[in-house]
Amino acid sequence: MRKKIVAANWKMNLLQHEAATFMTSLSESSLSSSTGPDVVVFPPSIYIENLITLNTADVRFGAQNAYFKESGAYTGEISFGQLKSIGCSVILVGHSERRTEFSESPSVIKKKIDAALGNDFDCILCIGESLSIREMGAHLEFLKNQLLESIEHLNENQVAKISIAYEPIWAIGTGLTATVHQVNEVHDFLRSTLIDKFPEAGNNVRILYGGSCNEENANELFACLNVDGGLIGGASLDVNKFLKIIHAANEVSRIEH
Ligand code: PGA
Repeated sequence: MRKKIVAANWKMNLLQHEAATFMTSLSESSLSSSTGPDVVVFPPSIYIENLITLNTADVRFGAQNAYFKESGAYTGEISFGQLKSIGCSVILVGHSERRTEFSESPSVIKKKIDAALGNDFDCILCIGESLSIREMGAHLEFLKNQLLESIEHLNENQVAKISIAYEPIWAIGTGLTATVHQVNEVHDFLRSTLIDKFPEAGNNVRILYGGSCNEENANELFACLNVDGGLIGGASLDVNKFLKIIHAANEVSRIEH
């Protein structure tokens, strides 16, 4: 049985004191990854070090972005080595906002994955189709290509460090969650694609759902066979909502066992 992950993607939200208050509430909630899901928070990078210091809960902190070069004249960028030096070892790669707003190409995404693995990071790789691709009925083929172009060069050990987040672009921040039927179709398809390509590790790679996942729909989404948790944007900014989502993952895992 794959352990679920509940991850918060704060994007460019919350001020330092709000982030600290969130962390204090999360710490008071006595989360435990031995009984519950793995919980990962992706705050803006400037807060990571402070949040790690405040953290008394069983939570990991990841970066929303990093550059693949080791060091040098790359103004404004942060390297994996620098993140590692403050105790951060999880990274989000390939989010649709980075692909579109910051023109991140498949080749950059691949380099980031390689740099992440080289620095022993765990990666959450985001993939997702646009509304027009879905309306054309081309989403499965598109997702297969988007997945494989980033990971097919990896070996079985390396792919074990990767989780996938399926985030349909039309569902991100729109309040329009994919239906259970749509989620099952994609997640089952991604699972078989992973197993075909990686017969040993493919069944253990965790596939998260993201896109208007919230405290009300988390339960039914997490109950889908190949949904191994969620990547939560808007609903992760409110600690009470986020805790309800963590509890939903906990509840579903308890029933599955
Ligand atoms: P959302 O964002 O939950 O606000 O839709 C998810 C994401 O972009 O990771």
